[in-house]
Amino acid sequence: MINRGYYDGFGGAFLPEILVATFDELDSVFTQAKKEPAFWEKYKDIMSDYSCRPTPLTFAENLTRHFGGARIYIKREDLNHTGAHKANNVMGQGLLVKRMGKTRVIAETGAGQHGVATATMAARFGFKCTIYMGEVDMMRQRPNVFWMERLGAEVIPVLDGTRILKDAINEAFRDWVTNMDTTHYVLGTACGPHPFPEMVSFFQSIIGKEARNQILEKEGRLPARVYACVGGGSNALGIFQGFLDDPVELVGVEAGGLGLDSGRHASRLSSKDASIGIAQGYKTYFLQDNDGQMRETHSVAAGLDYVGVSPILAQLKEKGRVRFESATDREVVDALSLAMKKEGLIPALESAHAFAQAFKEAPHLSKEYIIIINQSGRGDKDIFTIADAFNDSAWQEFIKGKAEEYNA
Ligand SMILES: Cc1ncc(COP(=O)(O)O)c(C=O)c1O
Repeated sequence: MINRGYYDGFGGAFLPEILVATFDELDSVFTQAKKEPAFWEKYKDIMSDYSCRPTPLTFAENLTRHFGGARIYIKREDLNHTGAHKANNVMGQGLLVKRMGKTRVIAETGAGQHGVATATMAARFGFKCTIYMGEVDMMRQRPNVFWMERLGAEVIPVLDGTRILKDAINEAFRDWVTNMDTTHYVLGTACGPHPFPEMVSFFQSIIGKEARNQILEKEGRLPARVYACVGGGSNALGIFQGFLDDPVELVGVEAGGLGLDSGRHASRLSSKDASIGIAQGYKTYFLQDNDGQMRETHSVAAGLDYVGVSPILAQLKEKGRVRFESATDREVVDALSLAMKKEGLIPALESAHAFAQAFKEAPHLSKEYIIIINQSGRGDKDIFTIADAFNDSAWQEFIKGKAEEYNA
């Protein structure tokens, strides 16, 4: 066991002996790359040529008028290639894989966005690719499974546990232990053993760096608040890092599911249901029972129902630097509906959590204030869940027709 990468007691690297050398290699390659300004420039070039960065900061004029309070801006991570901020992290890790001379990548995925991003990166860099995905998530996010397979990745259904993200992570670690000589595990969020939280946050910081410059350019001043949804915490840390040293209130929004009192949610830092523990190689707040067994989580958004949370966010919560809130499934679907109707934006269900909280607060803020919402991804992948939430009969008829066509 080794033990480092702490954030006031959160984090660390609780590793089986067999993985220590692999993590040491990753840590030293990352530490070296991080020191080289040329590496960041190369990373930025790839992100602009391949992933359409810088993503815009869009003024939401109609929503601003609708609420009559703060001026609302949206950071458009949905416009990254593959439709989410996940691209920022995987392309960065892809560059490190090249440096290490490895030829295969594996990843876990919940909503499927990280899986699609990893499969895309693997195709681009010429790596073999295996994606682990809980069977339940495979059902919820079928379009993304289709894309991963078409991109050349093997998608392995995980049948253990509750068959969601945490189970996929366990399976990916199992694979890594047997194949570490050739394989890199592209962890998708700012969790897991050191150096993953630091490394994922480093690549995602491109969001906050851009957003800060863009708002200063557009408005000549900083926002009062920045909102981001929190699954593992990568998009939130990405945008927050641009404003950590400024007098800007940072708001992380977790999955309130069916409500905090229902026990069916995934709120670690905004509920009293989580406690500090060690699992999956690091120390943070987990939703666990008194025996340390992971509890079942629930969210309408597959990408937010993880049992743990970034150790960096756990530290920022304890320091009082980030405020954590939660939005229920119902509030999220309503916010998504409003964003579509008023602004023509289609946020992912995950991102719609940030919208929901911002919509609760914007009307109570003065018109002088600016707020930024991080739209971490686009909602296309959620079409089945969203159609169900809206009980869209025309869509249901279409699906039935398709099924009949296949059965004919
Ligand atoms: C669009 C989108 N936003 C947010 C998340 C949550 O992850 P994180 O908290 O690491 O940004 C996911 C995870 O799959 C996602 O697909």
